[in-house]
Amino acid sequence: MWSLINGHKHLIKSQQFDRSAIEEVFGLADYIEKYEKQKGKGSYRPLINKEMVLIFVQESLRTRASFQFAHIRLGGVFPFTSEAAKKFSSMAKGESLEDTIIVLNEYEPDEIILRHDEEGGAERAALVSEVPIVNAGDGPGQHPTQALLDLYTIKKHLGRIDELEIILMGDVLGSRTINSIAFLFGRCKGITIYFVSPPHLRVRSDIKEYLERHNVKFEEGVDVRDFASRADVFYQTRTQTNLGTQPWDRKDQKNGYTVIDGNVLSMAKPDSIILHPLPCLDEIVRSEVDSDPRAVYIKTKNGRTSQVKCGLYIRMAIDQMVCL
Ligand code: NCD
Repeated sequence: MWSLINGHKHLIKSQQFDRSAIEEVFGLADYIEKYEKQKGKGSYRPLINKEMVLIFVQESLRTRASFQFAHIRLGGVFPFTSEAAKKFSSMAKGESLEDTIIVLNEYEPDEIILRHDEEGGAERAALVSEVPIVNAGDGPGQHPTQALLDLYTIKKHLGRIDELEIILMGDVLGSRTINSIAFLFGRCKGITIYFVSPPHLRVRSDIKEYLERHNVKFEEGVDVRDFASRADVFYQTRTQTNLGTQPWDRKDQKNGYTVIDGNVLSMAKPDSIILHPLPCLDEIVRSEVDSDPRAVYIKTKNGRTSQVKCGLYIRMAIDQMVCL
């Protein structure tokens, strides 16, 4: 058993990861990437016939695809996957999350990857499950595997996860990816976070309390340009309209300036990076930003591994750690 979740069977929230668990995931992801580069795609197969079940109540592209690619590459199988589970599994007939998980446990898979639409969904599933549950996003709650891949992308590009100034911006209140990575920064040293959002979408108080307890400095603001010249990392997020956030004008008097465009780029340090968990709508002006080498969110270019690709290796590492 790996120490991944420090003795926990399930992977539910970022706070489960202490510094050594984070390093362990990153070390394994590096190892797998190197192994595959040397010996070819699909050459590293520690999970032959291990069974992954995916239950996705909410929409997804990257999380679901990367878990599936990861598991197939490692030699695993998928006896059952349910996309739009509230439509196509018996949840559509009113079956509870708990009963769904209890039933799947009867078939004894090696892990269940769950994306749910309510905060606490993964925790509820874990309470009735012997099989490890991996939280792939629970409503506005957390998305811990995304946070790990985000931090891993920072490590890959900047060579460190300490002594950093980071802008977490956009729908700060509604983004579970911001919640999750903010908790991980509690395991790093010398961190300053600038939360940049309209006044009505400020960071949650439980996160602020956690950061205070873990000596992470933070400031709140409404205009990304106030912090742009200091930032090592820009972490942009979309408006979480599917979770109820109303769209706002990202460049106005009342709501501040929460877009990344050529103007913001011109203020940014040459060695900073721009991250986004995706999907990206109009919060990055793609025609002005995509071609810049600092834009590492979507496409690997000039040998700079994208955040999306980092997600594949991190999910391979997590998959192995959960299954073995
Ligand atoms: C994020 C999510 O689902 O929380 N997407 C993802 O997993 N890559 C971010 C988002 O949907 O805005």
